[in-house]
Amino acid sequence: MSEIQHQFVKKILTSASHGAYEKGRGLAPSNIALCKYWGKRDTTLNLPLNSSLSISLGEKGTCTQIRRVPNDQFILNGEPIDPATPFAQRLSTFLELFREPCRAPGFEVITDNTIPTAAGLASSASGYAALVLALNDLAGWDLPRQLLSMLARLGSGSASRSLFTGFACWHRGERADGTDSFAEAIETTWSDLRIGILTLTEAEKPVGSRAGMQRTLETSPRYAGWPARAEVDFELLQRAIVQRDFETLGATAEANALEMHATMRAAAPPLDYFLPETRTHIDRVQHLRAAGLPIYLTIDAGPNVKLLFQAAHTTEVAAAFPALEIIDPFGASHARTP
Ligand code: DP6
Repeated sequence: MSEIQHQFVKKILTSASHGAYEKGRGLAPSNIALCKYWGKRDTTLNLPLNSSLSISLGEKGTCTQIRRVPNDQFILNGEPIDPATPFAQRLSTFLELFREPCRAPGFEVITDNTIPTAAGLASSASGYAALVLALNDLAGWDLPRQLLSMLARLGSGSASRSLFTGFACWHRGERADGTDSFAEAIETTWSDLRIGILTLTEAEKPVGSRAGMQRTLETSPRYAGWPARAEVDFELLQRAIVQRDFETLGATAEANALEMHATMRAAAPPLDYFLPETRTHIDRVQHLRAAGLPIYLTIDAGPNVKLLFQAAHTTEVAAAFPALEIIDPFGASHARTP
């Protein structure tokens, strides 16, 4: 990790408390962006070109336990991870930032995901958020979530939003030092909002989000219009949430996702995350909507489709998509983040 990142972490930790514990634990939900983060103004500090807004997936996410050991050891869903894998290397590199502040030569990280890893269901988001919460617990920093969101951002941009349940927004910020680019909760609930997940594949995607967004930014002629467009969607979505305007929420999220994918497809070489079934599902959703069912979709950097609908239409939606996994993001069991 670079000196700039170490300095950034130092700055964030100036307000941290100190109480070294033997173990730390963190629990973070996965999140789905309704206004996507796609493109960075700074790749070292993971600073985005546009603000983004998400909804967390309740109990779907990551639970991480951490303790100090002589050398890094990672266990994912009960399986030890080979340190030579890109997954382990990225994790070790991130942890470089915290060895000194945690007085730990190495970390044992035990992670359990309730979502497929790297299948476009944002597991890096919940993964880095849970890891930062576990570090906060281990070192007794007692930092507020906004500051933790900036640490999680260094691991993966979308992880900044996974510090929160419900709706979260990540403000892109303007400062070069990254201290105004943080996420926060939108303090509201929307109890009849539902998310449906159509998992077409759990296979790892051929091009990760990180490389994909960089390629889009550098080569897609359509990218020039993306940041301003996303800022408009960000505002529209915030208003739709305040006004409980489901049609605007759904239509804005769907258009935002499809524009992101169109922008990627215009990259060189083109970036196409869809499977043939992805297109079939898009057609299906749009036909059902034309026939009067209020249902919308969003898709991250992968082929899986996520549906947005309201509780009153659960029966019709479940009948149209039998394999659907339905999530109630504001269900009673999902405690609000402090
Ligand atoms: C399509 O957060 O995975 O899911 O910051 O490089 O780790 P890095 O990228 P990442 O990108 C997520 C992209 C997205 C949209 C979103 O979640 O906003």
